[in-house]
Parts: sequence; structure tokens; C-alpha cells
Amino acid sequence: MAKTSYCAAPLILLLLSTSSLMVVVESAIGVNWGTVSFHRLTPSIVVRLLKDNKISKVKLFGADPDILSVLMGTGIEVMVGIPNEMLSDLSSSPNVADLWVRQNISRYLVRGGVNIRYIAVGNEPFLTSYSGQFQSYVVPALLNLQQSLVKANVANFVKLVVPCNADAYESTVPSQGAFRPELTQIMTQLVSFLNSNGSPFVVNIYPFLSLYGNSDFPQDYAFFDGTSHSVTDGQNVYSNAFDGNFDTLVAALNRIGYGQMPIVIGEIGWPTDGVLSANLTAARAFNQGLINHVLSNKGTPLRPGAPPVDVYLFSLLDEGAKSVLPGNFERHWGIFSFDGQAKYPLNLGLGNGLLKDAEDVQYLPSKWCIADPLMDLSGVVNHFKLACSVADCTTLDYGGSCNGIGAKGNISYAFNSYYQLQKQDAHSCDFDGLGMVTFLDPSVGDCRFLVGINDKNSGVRLHHEYFAAWGILLGVSVLL
Ligand SMILES: *[C@@H]1O[C@H](CO)[C@@H](O)[C@H](O)[C@H]1NC(C)=O
Ligand SMILES: *[C@@H]1O[C@H](CO)[C@@H](O)[C@H](O)[C@H]1NC(C)=O
Ligand SMILES: *[C@@H]1O[C@H](CO)[C@@H](O)[C@H](O)[C@H]1NC(C)=O
Repeated sequence: MAKTSYCAAPLILLLLSTSSLMVVVESAIGVNWGTVSFHRLTPSIVVRLLKDNKISKVKLFGADPDILSVLMGTGIEVMVGIPNEMLSDLSSSPNVADLWVRQNISRYLVRGGVNIRYIAVGNEPFLTSYSGQFQSYVVPALLNLQQSLVKANVANFVKLVVPCNADAYESTVPSQGAFRPELTQIMTQLVSFLNSNGSPFVVNIYPFLSLYGNSDFPQDYAFFDGTSHSVTDGQNVYSNAFDGNFDTLVAALNRIGYGQMPIVIGEIGWPTDGVLSANLTAARAFNQGLINHVLSNKGTPLRPGAPPVDVYLFSLLDEGAKSVLPGNFERHWGIFSFDGQAKYPLNLGLGNGLLKDAEDVQYLPSKWCIADPLMDLSGVVNHFKLACSVADCTTLDYGGSCNGIGAKGNISYAFNSYYQLQKQDAHSCDFDGLGMVTFLDPSVGDCRFLVGINDKNSGVRLHHEYFAAWGILLGVSVLL
């Protein structure tokens, strides 16, 4: 599969990115695959999940060899990520950029290798909350990496992009969109660079965060089913936040002279737990509404008939080890739970019907740790706090799926989260004699007491070493 796509694909990409936007471009739905999880599914099981759901585009946040090695030969189109923390080194040293490309890109671009099409240079480096600490490195890092790609003979195939947060631009109405004043110069350099290399502008759009962060935000404007609070902007009427946000970006790009620049949505989605507005019904309505809207190819008022080139849902899987600084919802963005089970019926529009669950997931034994019902639990508060400071207890809070399970239920939930995190180690259910192991599933209603997964699969690394050696033998020349 990969063999043929390597020959044909660069030409298609070139056509897509240099042709005028008046040509109707079919959008495609992809997913973000993040791995900040206590219970990581084996990469080969995730790849099978992608295939079973006909998902052919995936965005990563790094260049993890365990993941890239299982993507070899699948033909799945991959966006590899570079963390913000590396931008400084990449911007100051061409050698660092060369090495990064050699170790993390070139070695996979072999016959039967990985279909790496994009490198995301940084992740939302212009976020206001970073106070500008990364922004000056972005363009110099891009220039060094581009030289490295040219030297490695892969620059026509692999494109550099920079996923931007939507707070890089602002406006009261879409047509007045503009990049934040302090970013105008950098954005002009960035977009000019993207344009000359045939790369799209990548943006992350989160109507959920607008709703969550602003009590005045009209609830129905976040969704796609019509609103009683539409936004009128001259001739144009906006009935959903996504279109409004997208067109604000179009206007901002237009203002710096690149109104035709192709746009990719790097992240978009809706979480399902941790706060009231994050629930299964809302997530399903948002994601299905978004997919149907994008695939209708209607586009937006400023780009009629020209929807975003690609849309990467955030996210494939829940990531229970993420920081909850943004809010308790942060660990619950998956369309699948951490173990690859579909959370709600969703049609990705890829000709495959509703989501299919992961197969052959290796769970730990079916047992749970709960608070011993016979013990006096009055002295348990420190155990509860400690367990929840390490394991995930975000579903217990107000608005979460386990919020109503009572004081004893809370303690059991915390004990179990910790116990599963410790891979069901017998000592980890002790809690000074207050915990006990049970073989009866303590889940109640929507509140699921999880069983961990066995992610100690060591076969992956062998597989990787094997392919790496093989890649060196073949060299990258096959690609070109
Ligand atoms: C390759 O990428 C990984 C993950 O992003 C990074 O840790 C590693 O340092 C990179 N290799 C080089 C040579 O920079
Ligand atoms: C789910 O979220 C939606 C939208 O954020 C909200 O209107 C609704 O009340 C929530 N449902 C529940 C049961 O909390
Ligand atoms: C259970 O724990 C959550 C989160 O700490 C808290 O909000 C809730 O009030 C607790 N419930 C009871 C009955 O103590």
C-alpha cells in the first residue's frame, strides 16, 4: 500500500496546496493520537483500531519510535510532532535540525516505511499563557528544519507546519479578524514561509473552551444545529462558533496578504467527563455535527465550497495522566476511552458506519480495590488525597460521571484508580487495612470503575530495531 502511495502522493499534495481554493477540495477526517496515559494501549492495537475504523490520517505529538515502527507499511498519513521545548535548540543549530530529521524522519521514509507527510514544529507555541517564551524560535527553527529536509532529499514530500492556537487571532466579527498585534510580524514571516513551501496553516479550534470559559457564550452557538444567537457580519450570518472562528482566521490571513492559504484543523473536539458541559450527549452532538458540516463541503461564508483541507479530531483516546490545569475535562477528550472502547456512536464519514472498538485489548485480571465496608473510614481522608494526587479521580468532581456515588463510593473509586495504576500490586490495595480486593465490578450507572491494561508488551521494540536495521540497508533512495 505504502509503496504506491509514495510514488503518487507528492504530486497530489503539490496540486492540493498550490491550486486555487476555488477548486473544491474534499476534506478528510483524521485523529490526534496522544499518549499521556497511565494505561497505554499497545501501539499495534491502536494501529489496528485506526485501520478497523478506516482512519487514514493521524497526528502525533512526538516521534516515538514505538509508534512510528508500527505505522510502517500501513500507508496511514502521519503528522509527526516536535515539542515546544526543542524549538530553541532547533532554531540555533542546523546540526541539531539535521540530526533530528535523520533520526526521526529520514529513517522511516523507506519502502514499506511510514507515510510521514507533515512535521508539526512546536505545539501552539503562540499561546498567550506561554508569555512569548517560544515565539521567537518558531521561524528560525522552520528555516533550519527546511534546510535539513532539503539535504535529506525529502522536502517535496514532507511539509513543515505550525499548529496554532485560536487565540493567535482576535476580532468582534469574523470579517475584522486580525492576528494579535504583537504576533503580526512573526505571523507574516510564518505564513510567507508556509506559502512558499506549499504547506497549509494549521489551527486548533475549541468551541468547548469558549463555552466553558465564558458564561455569556450562547450554548447552541457552540453546536451545529442552528442557534437563536446567530452573529451577523455584514452580508454574512454565522450560526455556529466553528464557522465564525474559521472565517476570523481567513480574514486575519487575508489582512497579511494570504487570504488563499489552505487551512487544516489540527485539533477540534469535545470532552465527555469532569465538568457539566463535558458529557457524552454533547460530545456526540458536537463531533457528529462537525463531521457532517465539514463533509458537506459547504464551507464557510468567506470560503464557500472550500472547507478545511483536513480535520484532526481531538482526540483518539482519553489521556488520564494529562495535567488538569486547564480543567478536569482535560483527561476525557477521547472518542474512545483509554482502552479503545467507543464512548458513543459516531460516524466519521469514512464509509465505515459507527465507531468500532479496539480488539484484543490485554486487560489486567477482572478485579478491583474498594474500601472495606466493615471498616471505620473516618481516618481515610489522607489516603483518598494521596491516591487521587497520583491516579485519576476527575470523574468524582461536580459534573463528572461518578459525582453521585456517595462518600464511601468516592473512597472506593480513589482506591481502585490507584490500585489499577499500580498494576494491581497487592500492597497497593492495603491503605492501612482499609482497602480490600473484590471480584465484583463496583461500577454504578455511568460511573465506571476501570480495570487497567497490560501494556508491558516488549515485542514492539524488537520490531522497531528490526525495521530500523532494514531501513538503513535499503536507504531512502527508493522514495525518490
Ligand atoms: C527524535 O525525536 C524524539 C522525540 O521527539 C526526541 O526525543 C529525540 O531527541 C529526537 N532525536 C534527535 C536527534 O533530536
Ligand atoms: C451536557 O452538556 C451540554 C452542553 O454543554 C449541556 O447543555 C447539558 O446540560 C449537559 N447534560 C448534562 C446531563 O449535564
Ligand atoms: C466525593 O468526592 C467529590 C470530589 O472530591 C466531592 O465533590 C463530593 O462531594 C464527594 N461526595 C461525598 C458524598 O462526599
